[in-house]
Amino acid sequence: MKKISIIALLAVSVATSVMAASVVGSRHDMVFSGFAVGAGGSTEVCIFCHTPHGGQTSVTLAPLWNNTAVASVGTLYNSTTMNFTATVEQVNATDARLCLACHDGGVGMPVNQPNSGDMDPTAAVMSPNALLTTDLSNDHPIGMDLGLNPEGIDPGIRPLATIIGATGFNENPFYGAANTMWCSTCHDVHDGDPLTAPFLRISNAGSAMCKACHIK
Ligand code: HEC
Ligand code: HEC
Ligand code: HEC
Ligand code: HEC
Repeated sequence: MKKISIIALLAVSVATSVMAASVVGSRHDMVFSGFAVGAGGSTEVCIFCHTPHGGQTSVTLAPLWNNTAVASVGTLYNSTTMNFTATVEQVNATDARLCLACHDGGVGMPVNQPNSGDMDPTAAVMSPNALLTTDLSNDHPIGMDLGLNPEGIDPGIRPLATIIGATGFNENPFYGAANTMWCSTCHDVHDGDPLTAPFLRISNAGSAMCKACHIK
């Protein structure tokens, strides 16, 4: 009897420790950061990115999107030592166009304003390092399908099970059945935990996140 209750307690503490921090109060909380509240003074945090009705359908399978996605990404990263390839079309099918709605330079207006009051985030000023622009030629590559055997394509990349397993991310960080890399491979847009800043899925202390994929 006692043993069972200890196990139950352990299960609760593990669940708490892996629970992600919220978007509320994070750098993605544009109400908290003060610049976003328009004349109506709404306090809705999600509205900059999502709406319950009238979501944007310009990006396939976008989650009830409420901002203006960029039409396309620009030039992609390349080098003579790259083994995986991605096309602009493949990158456009990831979440990149959603992130770049703001990280191209300015936070756009929520397309569908909340009933609780207007929002006007247009005065938001992105710090220079948060400003990626649509030119991704100097950014870590995304959009590549890693498939089920990435180490077979690039021996410098760890096996899939190691990347997603206990020594890696503890969950699959890829997108779709072909295990595609997207911005959300490395970032969790909702998780403002300072221990995994800036919005990373796992801590990159000692470059641990980089090493979850790269044998270096
Ligand atoms: C700064 C923009 C931003 C804000 C603010 C934001 N989200 Fe998201 N959300 C995204 C993006 C981008 C995705 C798609 C990437 C992904 O799934 O991680 C997403 C995906 C989702 C999904 C579908 C995937 C999943 O994780 O289940 C849900 C549900 C969601 N958001 C709910 C919310 C809620 C609720 C809030 C407010 C408390 C919120 N989001 C605030 C950008 C945002
Ligand atoms: C609605 C606008 C909006 C969208 C969409 C958005 N962001 Fe942001 N993001 C911001 C703002 C505003 C900041 C704070 C900028 C600053 O620090 O100057 C920010 C900051 C960040 C930071 C830096 C956090 C820090 O602690 O310095 C990261 C990383 C980031 N965003 C990643 C993403 C990713 C990845 C996506 C898509 C999955 C995304 N964002 C979508 C508005 C947005
Ligand atoms: C391979 C992992 C990886 C991918 C993929 C990735 N990022 Fe990042 N990103 C990082 C890391 C790590 C940092 C923190 C860098 C540092 O600490 O110097 C970062 C930082 C940022 C920042 C904040 C810059 C700063 O210095 O505060 C923004 C904004 C951002 N990423 C957006 C994006 C967007 C948008 C995408 C997709 C187009 C993306 N990231 C894809 C790993 C990644
Ligand atoms: C989820 C897995 C993953 C994570 C996490 C990751 N990478 Fe990568 N990275 C890749 C893949 C896959 C490639 C493409 C390799 C290729 O095609 O040769 C790549 C490409 C690169 C390249 C370009 C290689 C070349 O040949 O031009 C560099 C440099 C790099 N990553 C560094 C980093 C750093 C630094 C971090 C941590 C901030 C990081 N990566 C995090 C998977 C990852």
